[in-house]
Amino acid sequence: MDLKDKIQVYEDFPKDGISFKDINSLILNPRAFQYVIDEMTKVAKALDANLVAIPEARGYIFGTPLAYLIGAGLVPVRKPGKLPGEVSSVAYDLEYGSNIVEIQKNAIKPGDRAIVVDDLLATGGTLMATTRLIEKLGGEIAGIITLIELTELGGRDLLKDYFVHSIVTYP
Ligand code: PRP
Repeated sequence: MDLKDKIQVYEDFPKDGISFKDINSLILNPRAFQYVIDEMTKVAKALDANLVAIPEARGYIFGTPLAYLIGAGLVPVRKPGKLPGEVSSVAYDLEYGSNIVEIQKNAIKPGDRAIVVDDLLATGGTLMATTRLIEKLGGEIAGIITLIELTELGGRDLLKDYFVHSIVTYP
């Protein structure tokens, strides 16, 4: 299936110079959405993970059905101030702007193996911050799966210590 046909591109959103890849047009198409989840599931099954970590907000869309299908628990990775109890935080830079990600400390136990699932690998900052959060709490990274990879932004180099699988690449 040609997924690029299903991903609408908006130039100069949310800022001048950014070519925004909109997954909403893809998930509106049931066959395309099923195809993506099936492809991610094939890869995830080989990674022997008991958790799927999902960066807010678009990681939820792909990571949730994937976790269900492989029988893994879900760990929401949230923007600051959203999670109750003790949290662990890491700051990171985005393709545009900067942010902080948080997870609940009790979400990860030593020996847990997590797949991190997101819609997009750009600079890799979000995924790197997420892997550091999980590792800080004693978990292992089984792999990283994204729908889209923007290859020229170098995220794969930043994440070179991990298995990274993307379904669609753009320069
Ligand atoms: C986007 C995207 C990834 C991240 C990729 O999320 O969903 O999580 O940026 O960029 P990076 O590889 O340069 O870190 P965003 O923070 O815009 O949040 P949203 O999903 O809530 O819109």
